[in-house]
Amino acid sequence: MKAYILCLRLILIPFLLPVIGAAQKTVKTFPLSSLDLSKMKQTYGVPRVYHRGDEKQMTIAKKTFGYGVGTRIKSALWIDLARGADRFIADVGVDDDTTNIVFFTKQNFKVIGDGKKLWESGPMDLGDPSKHIDIDIRGIDTLVLTVVNAGDLSSYVQMDWAEPRFMISGKDPVAISAPEDKAVILTPKPRPVAQINGPKVYGCRPGSPFLYRIPATGTRPIRFSAKRLPAGLTLDDQTGIITGTLKKRGDYKVVLKAQNAAGTDTRAFTISCGDKLALTPPMGWNDWYTHFDNITDQKMRKAADLMEQNGMADVGYQYVNIDDCWMNATAVRHPGRVGPLRNAAGDIQPNSYFPDMKGMTDYIHAKGLKAGIYSSPGPTTCGGYGASAGHEEQDARQFANWGFDFLKYDWCSYSEVIGPGPYTSEQMQKPFRDMGKYLKEQQRDIIFNLCQYGMDSVWRWGAEAGHSWRTGADLGLDIDIFYDVAIKNALEYGSWSKPGGWNDPDYLQIGFLSNAPCKLSPTEQYSFMSLWCLLPSPLFYSGDMEKLDDFTLNILCNPEVIEVNQDRLGKPGIISGIDSTKETFVMVKELEDGSKAVGLCNQGLFPTEVTYKWAGDKKSKRQAVRDLWRQQDKGIFQNEFTTTVPARGVALIKVSNQQAQLICCH
Ligand code: GLA
Repeated sequence: MKAYILCLRLILIPFLLPVIGAAQKTVKTFPLSSLDLSKMKQTYGVPRVYHRGDEKQMTIAKKTFGYGVGTRIKSALWIDLARGADRFIADVGVDDDTTNIVFFTKQNFKVIGDGKKLWESGPMDLGDPSKHIDIDIRGIDTLVLTVVNAGDLSSYVQMDWAEPRFMISGKDPVAISAPEDKAVILTPKPRPVAQINGPKVYGCRPGSPFLYRIPATGTRPIRFSAKRLPAGLTLDDQTGIITGTLKKRGDYKVVLKAQNAAGTDTRAFTISCGDKLALTPPMGWNDWYTHFDNITDQKMRKAADLMEQNGMADVGYQYVNIDDCWMNATAVRHPGRVGPLRNAAGDIQPNSYFPDMKGMTDYIHAKGLKAGIYSSPGPTTCGGYGASAGHEEQDARQFANWGFDFLKYDWCSYSEVIGPGPYTSEQMQKPFRDMGKYLKEQQRDIIFNLCQYGMDSVWRWGAEAGHSWRTGADLGLDIDIFYDVAIKNALEYGSWSKPGGWNDPDYLQIGFLSNAPCKLSPTEQYSFMSLWCLLPSPLFYSGDMEKLDDFTLNILCNPEVIEVNQDRLGKPGIISGIDSTKETFVMVKELEDGSKAVGLCNQGLFPTEVTYKWAGDKKSKRQAVRDLWRQQDKGIFQNEFTTTVPARGVALIKVSNQQAQLICCH
C-alpha cells in the first residue's frame, strides 16, 4: 500500500508542481485609478475618479459601480505593462449623469495592445447596458485605453471605465505619455525662380474698385507683366498689384508673367467680371483666436506687414480681418473700449483702439491686401459690443466707405430683436439676406461671411445671401475635434459648397494661438490644413502672426497644397472607405486638370496603411502619384496607392494620369 502511495505521489508530482508554482505566484488586483491619470489625454476636461463610498456613485444604465474612472472623448491613456499584467477587467458604458451634455453621439471604447486592437465595445449610446471586458494581456508591453466617437461629432458626455483593474503577477503598470510627434518640416523652401501662385480665376463686379496682388514666390526683385489685361486695369510691374475698375462684364483671359534673375513663370488667369465674387475660397487672417478683445489698429497693420513679409501673401493669403471688439461697448473690461455706440447721425463708433478706420484700410490696401470687419444683426456682438440692429443699411454703407472688403456677420444677440425661439426659417434667414442685399448695393466688392453656426441648414440657402457660412459652433481652442468636423462637413453638406459660396467650418488654428502653442500635434496640424484644403474651406489663419515659426509657415504656405483648395472647379472632397469607427478613410477632390487630390486619412492612435483605389478604364489604371506636402513624385502606380499614414495624419497626394502629370508638374 505504502509503495502504491509513494508511486502515486511520484506520478502526480509533475502535475502538482505548476499548481504549487501558481499558488506561489501572487496575482494582485491593481485598479486603473492607481495610475497617474494626469497622463490621460481627453479633449474636454480632466478624468473623474470615483471611489467606494463617494456620495456620487458611477452609474451606467442605472447600474451602480463601486469605483471607476470617467473620461470624455477623445480620450487615450498609454500604459507601460512591462509584460507584468495578466488580465484587464472592467465594465464600460455611457455615464447616466447627463448634466453638461451639449450634444451627444455614440462612442466607442477600445483596448489596444502593442498597436493591435484587443477589444472594442462598438458604438455605445446613453442608456445602453454596460459591456464587460475581461481580456488576457499577458506578454503585452504597451496598452492603450481609448474612447473615441462613433457618431458624427464629439460630445461632452462622460464615458465610464467602471471597476477597471489589472490582475498582475509582475511589475506594477505605469501610465506613460503618448509617443512624441516631432515637428518635421516637409515643405521645401520656395525655389529662387519666380513662380506665380494662388487662384486661376478671380471674380469682381463692374464699377467696383479692383485690387489683386499677384501671389508669387521667388527671389525679389520680380518684374510682373500681364498680357491682355483689360482696359481699366493697371499692373504695377514692381509689386504685382493690379488696380483700377472694370466697366464691362465678361471673362477676361489674362496671362500673368513674373520674371526674376533666376527665370520666368507665366500663368493663365481669368478675371471674371459679373455678379459673382469668391470664385475660389477666400484666404487670409482673422484676429479672433489670437487677440480676442485686445485687438487694435496697430495689431491689424502689423498683421498686414507680416502677411506681406512672411510669404503668406506670396501664396495667396489676402484678407486681413478684424473680428469682434473693434467698436464701442457700454460696459466691458477695457475702459478704452467703452463709449457711445453711435453718434448723433447714428453712425457706429469704433473704440479708441481704432482711431482711423479709413487710414487702416488704406494701409492694408497699399500692400495689395484686403481688409475685413465684423458685426452682428443683434443690438450687441457676442463680446457685448455695439452692433448693427436697426442700422443695417447704414452700417453696410459705413463699412464700404471705410474701405472694407469683407464682413463677418454674427448672429450673437439677434434673439433680442425677434424674441425667444424656436424660429421659423424666414426669421433665421432674414438678417443675413437683408445685410447681403445692402452689401451688394455698395459700389465695393464685399465678401459676406454668415456666422450663425449652421442654423436652418445654412448651406442650403447661404449662397443666396453671401459667399461663405459657418457650418457649426466655434471650434474653440480644444480643437482636436477638427477631424470630426471635416468628416461631417464632407458627408453631410460638402456638395453645397461651390464657387461663389463656401462652407466655413471655422479658422485654421495651428501654430501659436491665444498666448500658447495650439494643442494639436505636428501631424494633426498637417491634417488640419490638408482637410481644409480638400473640403475645400476658406483658409483663414487665426493664430498669432507675430509668433509664426518655420514649422507653421511650412504648413500654411505650400503652394501645391493651396492649389488643391483654390482649384477653379471648387469641387467638394468626397469621402469613401469609411466605417462606423471613422478611423481610416480617403477623401477625394476632383481638380480642374483632370487629376485628383486625395487625402489618405488615419484618425486612429497608431500609424496604419491606407489605400486609395482608382477605378476606371484601361488607360486610367496607371496613374502618377505626387506627395503634395513634400512636393515629390512618388512614381507610377497600377490601380491603387497604399502608404503608411501616421496616427491622426493625412497623407495628401495628387493622382493624375501620366499625360496630365507631364503637363502639370514638370
Ligand atoms: C462668435 C463667433 C466667433 C467670434 C466670436 C466673437 O463666437 O462664432 O467666431 O467671432 O463670436 O465674439
